[in-house]
Amino acid sequence: MDKKYCKIEICDRTDPLELEIITGNLGPDVIDISNLYQENSLFTYDPGFVSTASCQSNITFIDGDKGILLYRGYPVEELAKSSTFIEVAYLLLYGELPNKNMLEDFSDSIIQHTMLNEGMLRLFNGFRYDAHPMAMLSAIVGSMSAYYHDTMDINSARAREIFAHRIIAKLPTIAAAAYKHSVGQPFVYPLNTLNYCENLLHMFFSVPAEQRDIDPIAAEALDLLFILHADHEQNCSTSTVRMAGSSGTNPYSAIAAGISALWGPAHGGANEAVLRMLVEIGTKKNIEKYIDKAKDKDDPFRLMGFGHRVYKNYDPRAKIIRKMCHKVLNQKGSADSPLLELAIELEEIALKDDYFREKNLYPNVDFYSGIIYQALGIPTSMFTVMFAIGRTVGWVSHWREMITDPNTKISRPRQLYTGPEKRNYISIDKR
Ligand code: CMC
Repeated sequence: MDKKYCKIEICDRTDPLELEIITGNLGPDVIDISNLYQENSLFTYDPGFVSTASCQSNITFIDGDKGILLYRGYPVEELAKSSTFIEVAYLLLYGELPNKNMLEDFSDSIIQHTMLNEGMLRLFNGFRYDAHPMAMLSAIVGSMSAYYHDTMDINSARAREIFAHRIIAKLPTIAAAAYKHSVGQPFVYPLNTLNYCENLLHMFFSVPAEQRDIDPIAAEALDLLFILHADHEQNCSTSTVRMAGSSGTNPYSAIAAGISALWGPAHGGANEAVLRMLVEIGTKKNIEKYIDKAKDKDDPFRLMGFGHRVYKNYDPRAKIIRKMCHKVLNQKGSADSPLLELAIELEEIALKDDYFREKNLYPNVDFYSGIIYQALGIPTSMFTVMFAIGRTVGWVSHWREMITDPNTKISRPRQLYTGPEKRNYISIDKR
């Protein structure tokens, strides 16, 4: 196919710049500026990467205007309806849906890796009882590089694969250990006769003296939430994993960096912030006051769970979660949950408000997920940890793609310098 180019006129220059345009399979074309500095001594300026593609990827596609999300080409709605989290994990990691045998082998391999090195379990004792679970999660995942030396060679395909299975398997175990530490209960070991989400519920809610029955609706809800959180192309935490990984650091350190990025309230920390916001709003009669606060430029308050860098339409994941919210609350006999009613009313009022309509601010994935977690008995401070369990699959898929991409270079952005020009040091007695 013929190459496409664009010409850009630059004042003070006689010849326009000629830059190649690259076309992907879906989504906008990109202008290749990789040689811009070398050939023209120019940088581009794009804070927050609003218009910048940082890599080529064939994992996930989002059309934010139409509200479309595809994993390896499959619409997330179809996967949410018919697949399982473990099957989706296989799809994201390997690019295709598995047949029955492949899925069984994959599932068995994940199960082999659910236990933690006992030394890692002892690390939890060093944390205060009230340590935030995300602080424990990032530290413990980072510590894995000190325990699993067999997977530190990023150039070995086999080591990368074992790492991938290991970290997907261990995230629920680490999350449960963080939870048990925070409530002062003994750690509960995984039970490998259970599936991924059942095992997580077992490690959270059983105690050595009593094994709790697993609620199938709770396991189903978790599986759905993990599918919906599994990947979201070059979001902040995934880009962080890619950026950290591009230096050649070990994969556990790269994932720990992603966990730290996810914690922020503008990203994965929003699910915790939504619940705290709903509790603060308290009753329907306060909604208008908080909508006004969100619209006030002098007030830092934002409507948490609303808005998205990419979606300028309803987040397709939020629609699916809202449905599951009703199912879980109905089953728990709390269909008339005041928190859900408040969230629905808040959504209705915001969607009719000119400010939110003009700025295309719709509920995102985090708006309803916390209500489900709360109904399952998972404390608010654990919500972002739950997000991290699902997103680990995406982080690992992107890290593997980045490592094997021949175009990967160490991520090293440039800057527009606005500091002082060169000046000479003045000794302290003369200042
Ligand atoms: N409440 C009130 N105003 C908002 C909100 C909100 N939730 N979100 C965006 N705006 C306004 C913002 O003030 C700005 O107004 P103006 O153009 O007048 O300056 C305009 O909308 C565009 O916002 P932005 O911050 O420039 O957009 P962004 O793409 O940089 O940020 C966002 C996207 C998700 C960080 C932002 O919408 C936000 O802070 N939302 C609340 C936090 C949240 O729910 N985060 C979860 C995101 S989805 C899950 C995930 O990524 O992990």
